[in-house]
Amino acid sequence: MSSTIESVLQESRLFPPSPQFVKQANISGMEAYRKLVAEAERDFEGFWARVARETLLWSKPFTQTLDESKAPFYRWFYDGELNASYNCLDRHLKSQPDKVAILFEADDGKVTRITYKELHREVCRMANALHAHGIKLGDRVLIYMPMSIQVVVAMQACARIGATHSVVFGGFSAKSLQERIIDAGATEVITADGQFRGGREIPLKPVVDEAFAMGGCEKVRNVIVYKRTGSSVPMRAPRDKWWHDVVKGQAEQCDPVNVNAEHPLFILYTSGSTGKPKGVQHSTGGYLLWAMLTMKWVFDNKPSDIFWCTADVGWVTGHTYINYGPLAVGTTVVMFEGVPTYPDAGRFWKIIQDHKVNVFYTAPTAIRSLIKAGGELPKKYDLSSLRLLGTVGEPINPEAWMWYHNTVGRERCPIVDTWWQTETGGILISPLPGVTPTKPGSATLPLPGIFADIVDETGQSVGKGKGGILVIKRPWPAMLRTIWGDPERYKKTYFPDDFKGKLYLAGDGASMDEEGYFRIVGRIDDVLNVSGHRLGTMEVESALVANSKLVAEAAVVGRPDELTGEAIVAFVVLKGHRPTGDEAHKMAEELRNWVAKEIGPLAKPKDIRFGDNLPKTRSGKIMRRLLRAIARGETIAQDVSTLENPAILEQLKQAM
Ligand code: WT7
Repeated sequence: MSSTIESVLQESRLFPPSPQFVKQANISGMEAYRKLVAEAERDFEGFWARVARETLLWSKPFTQTLDESKAPFYRWFYDGELNASYNCLDRHLKSQPDKVAILFEADDGKVTRITYKELHREVCRMANALHAHGIKLGDRVLIYMPMSIQVVVAMQACARIGATHSVVFGGFSAKSLQERIIDAGATEVITADGQFRGGREIPLKPVVDEAFAMGGCEKVRNVIVYKRTGSSVPMRAPRDKWWHDVVKGQAEQCDPVNVNAEHPLFILYTSGSTGKPKGVQHSTGGYLLWAMLTMKWVFDNKPSDIFWCTADVGWVTGHTYINYGPLAVGTTVVMFEGVPTYPDAGRFWKIIQDHKVNVFYTAPTAIRSLIKAGGELPKKYDLSSLRLLGTVGEPINPEAWMWYHNTVGRERCPIVDTWWQTETGGILISPLPGVTPTKPGSATLPLPGIFADIVDETGQSVGKGKGGILVIKRPWPAMLRTIWGDPERYKKTYFPDDFKGKLYLAGDGASMDEEGYFRIVGRIDDVLNVSGHRLGTMEVESALVANSKLVAEAAVVGRPDELTGEAIVAFVVLKGHRPTGDEAHKMAEELRNWVAKEIGPLAKPKDIRFGDNLPKTRSGKIMRRLLRAIARGETIAQDVSTLENPAILEQLKQAM
């Protein structure tokens, strides 16, 4: 951690926004920002009440702003009522019915546009179809779909009738899907026959069938299947139904079901430091408020903007900045089915050129891979429509930042390096494009109303120039409300006793520089960030040892990787003998595929090393610190005298 912090403290290049940008910005200039910050400090609840009244449409106005009586189970706007889908769609029906809501570009380049009026109609028809299946307020609907207009329709249809959706990323395995169906207690599944990515067809419905075959999904009464690829998939009557059949004949109007502001809009599973993913539960009112505010504040949203977030809807970034945020503010959002390198590494730049994208939001890992695949390629395209760039998901290295700034933004576009998490619902720390002089690799300052700090193990602020633990000191409207079905874990994970239950523990290490800018360094817990995707080391370990025929023991650690940020390294003890040479390669490949089947391809270890044993203390505890050092190729300077079996270190170093 310390070497990264040093390099940040040395990073002195500052990029102030241009006067033209400042002039037109929704929050214009440092003064305007400071005023909002001061308002939130002076009158915390009054500030949130004001913005919530100005931003959202309430069917029943709230009179109470924040309830802290059951902290850390905070409630916001809790006597108010609203509907999220009404706030995303109906509100635009009079003012801009024919504006394009979603511009969808398929893997093969085919473009489909849907207007706000049409989207409203499709959402109503699906909402009525769900009603007809008996889905009602509070029921859980699991969505396992490709990037498509239909996945947005499915999410919005749930929101419209007060059903809680849980979207599972299409890259997750049958096993992961089954676990989530069971944990959420879903009674309906919406999926597709398959999807196209990079010219390849990837099945989805067969994965759903596999999940069902594993058992435990009996609560699910209906599986709705959207026909995307047209490949034949087994349909089991009466459970399985085609999307086009269930919406056929449904009314084009569906009254929104107004829900309490605290009603769970969605559950989204994410990894933690145990083997079991957690269902992060979000509210309706506070979450949607944040989605809208950050569209306006951070992405400086204008009615004329074409906004493109490249994330998948299966992640929180897609929830907030493809679906809820962009639609609620009434922008045109671009959605892309494919991958950045197909048919070639110019695809992103071509999409920006073709659709005249104004605001572009992507991940550092995508930027790094596109630099590698064709650092000069952006120059071949007309990117003059761009006015603002963003990144999310992991720290961005200053080199990649500079390339983004020079080659994509042509030195004109502010870059917002946005820090947030599945749990935070939306962006918490980020430059404001018309305010903050940016610094490569720094997420800069908290948004108005967000009280962030860096503390030591006892919860004391460490001050400027030192590394520590990132915390949020006061609740905010879009925070997660609990972990679905596990309130104890929520409390323990996010409001630990070490901090007297008062500070929100983000799980990231960070430092603050002279300007008071935050620089997020990486996770401090057993969580890895691989290509901007969060993975628990325990999750991968559990997956490995679940192969009880082959694996006796496994330990998983992360190591820095040029392209993916972090890479997964697994140390494995097999039940038989320790393989070497070709056999080791074959075995490693087999285990990699096994992990892909257990969790999903994104969890495949990059490197697997076999040993006769793992480095353990005399009491049998695996010494992960040492494994981390080996994985990084560092010399082990630490004391190894507590090791039961020091010779194992040499063996693991030599392995593979
Ligand atoms: C973790 C959250 C937020 C949507 C995508 C990931 C890391 C996120 C940044 C950033 C440095 C970042 C953190 C965080 N992270 N944004 N701008 N700079 N690190 O959501 O899967 O919940 O992961 O991603 O480590 O805790 P997620």
